[in-house]
Amino acid sequence: MTANLWGGRFEEAASDLLRRFNDSFSFDRELFAVDVKGSIAWAKALEGAGVLTGAEAERIISGLEAIPNPEWNAGDLARESHEDVHSYVEAKLREQIGDLAGRLHTGRSRNDQVATDLKLYLKASCSELDANIVTLARTLAQRALDEAATAMPGYTHSKRAEPVTFGHWSLAYAEMLRRDLSRLRDAVTRNDSCPLGSGALSGTPIDIDRETLAKSLGFARATANSLDGVSDRDFAADYLFVASMLLSHLSRLAEDLIFFTSDEVGFAELPDTMATGSSRMPQKKNPDVLELVRGHAGRSIGELTGLLALLKGLPLAYDKDLQLDKEPLFRTRVILALALPALNELFANLKLNREAMRAAASHDLLLATELADAMASRGLPFRKAHEIVSARVGEAIRQKKTLSDLGPTADITDLDLAALDVDKALTKRASAGGASPDRVRAAAQTALENLR
Ligand code: ARG
Repeated sequence: MTANLWGGRFEEAASDLLRRFNDSFSFDRELFAVDVKGSIAWAKALEGAGVLTGAEAERIISGLEAIPNPEWNAGDLARESHEDVHSYVEAKLREQIGDLAGRLHTGRSRNDQVATDLKLYLKASCSELDANIVTLARTLAQRALDEAATAMPGYTHSKRAEPVTFGHWSLAYAEMLRRDLSRLRDAVTRNDSCPLGSGALSGTPIDIDRETLAKSLGFARATANSLDGVSDRDFAADYLFVASMLLSHLSRLAEDLIFFTSDEVGFAELPDTMATGSSRMPQKKNPDVLELVRGHAGRSIGELTGLLALLKGLPLAYDKDLQLDKEPLFRTRVILALALPALNELFANLKLNREAMRAAASHDLLLATELADAMASRGLPFRKAHEIVSARVGEAIRQKKTLSDLGPTADITDLDLAALDVDKALTKRASAGGASPDRVRAAAQTALENLR
């Protein structure tokens, strides 16, 4: 049992229950690498301020570098108990270099330390996420380029509405991911400030150059207010919001793909490598990956909501509630690091049934708008054309025929009926942002150029 960091004023040892409820080492050891990194930077800052000699700083730094990463199993953890990752690092440093270890904490608090650790941790999480979003968005844009002319029904209210192309649909998700990327990068820029040197809450009394310290840890600047520096967790909420928004988008993508790959629709087939089977029903090929993405989107909204509820109403400055900010971040990072590459592999290898898509998109009821547009282009008010075509659609459904089968009428000319053609309908969607193959090709190219 390691002594805790705050023993002096207490006459009795901490209850075992206190330890079990209070300790965070079982999960915050995830911060080990960044805690060591921050400690090394702090040792150098102390040397810069003349608190440590060069030789002392060097001994502390090589001691820190020699501490084993606590990737322990449950048995190890039970044997060696530590309050948190910060006390673990200090205890292990003491084993390496003796009492000199105690000087590292001069002018520092676990409050500015843990805020710094968390920001460093999220910096790495964000750059990993950035790369994964770019990869997936590029895969979507590349498929959009390849499938720019692959006709597919577009839906509103889950009912066939107007034709689009598979490429146009892919690019819609690439757009969402482009916004996610910009949200992520905004958040990274906004939160690029280092709390270290804020002390417990009022600032450090040591004459540290905090700007140099911040830059040495890869931050753009030092935080501007010590009370805020130790208690701000906006950056964590930003990360969870970016993750929730992103996963909400991916969940919509997943939902569309579940629909497209369903037995009923059959527009696409999951690659074998990204589908699961059933232990009971031999014919099954299940979209578990997509369903998990959809499920994780819900859970991630819960993580964000949980953190906001935790932060709301916290008095300044540090409160122990803040210890509970970490696990949602750790869980979210793990999920994102799996979900995005998995979706990327699934989407890149999705097998399309282009014939089924085209057949569904060519059904002339789905082209009813084209017919009304053609009549309107002859000068008929669109409202009137809509009414006539609508009645014709009713007739077609009753007679189980297509609009073309029903043929021309006094209002509907043969030339109007010629508009009932999926390729013509697509080609006409040539205004900016539209579904015409040329537009989609150009938009996909632009996306590929910009997404990096
Ligand atoms: N384990 C704590 C946390 O995660 C470290 C900070 C402790 N600070 C304190 N004043 N008790 O928040």
